[in-house]
Amino acid sequence: MGFALAQELANKGARVILLTGPVSIQVNHPLIEKVDVVSGEEMYQKAVEFFPQTHGAIMCAAVADYRAAEQNPHKIKRKTGKLTLELIPNPDIAARLGEMKKDKQVLAGFALETHNELDNAQNKLQKKNLDFIVLNSLNDVGAGFQTDTNKITILDKYNKIINFELKHKNSVASDIVNYLMKFMQV
Ligand code: C5P
Repeated sequence: MGFALAQELANKGARVILLTGPVSIQVNHPLIEKVDVVSGEEMYQKAVEFFPQTHGAIMCAAVADYRAAEQNPHKIKRKTGKLTLELIPNPDIAARLGEMKKDKQVLAGFALETHNELDNAQNKLQKKNLDFIVLNSLNDVGAGFQTDTNKITILDKYNKIINFELKHKNSVASDIVNYLMKFMQV
């Protein structure tokens, strides 16, 4: 989804910084600068570094909420009994950018939900100080993971709710970018 959004923004003439974890997808557009990261922590550092020089950010990475407290450089050998891993929270990148956001910047987030979809998305919109949030529900056939299609609802900070039809992810990217551009003119 992030790559489709970057492509769509660049096609419309925007200069894009694409922060991405390790994926096999390639991108080749003169307006897209790809910055590779390998962890949520690293994505956080880069996002905080680049955000001030942008007109806005779309946060669509599914960053893990927790990470292992300790990293073992070697294979962990089998022992008898249970093995307990301690997990510590990853920084919430969208929430941090929400705190840093200046008046003219637009911040969009994503919410993938399985229940109480609208309420949960609304909460994230407010808690992270987003301008709008793109909701998709795993209850919708053809939406979410492992499919080329998606069905989204956009909720914005002015309490507007727009439902979109099920469509190809490239068309979804186009709907999101159009919304972002309209939003920037408000
Ligand atoms: O994981 P969650 O449902 O809270 O994700 C909602 C939004 O927050 C998404 O836009 C996601 O990219 C962003 N997020 C983030 N940093 C995290 C977790 C989520 O920016 N550590």
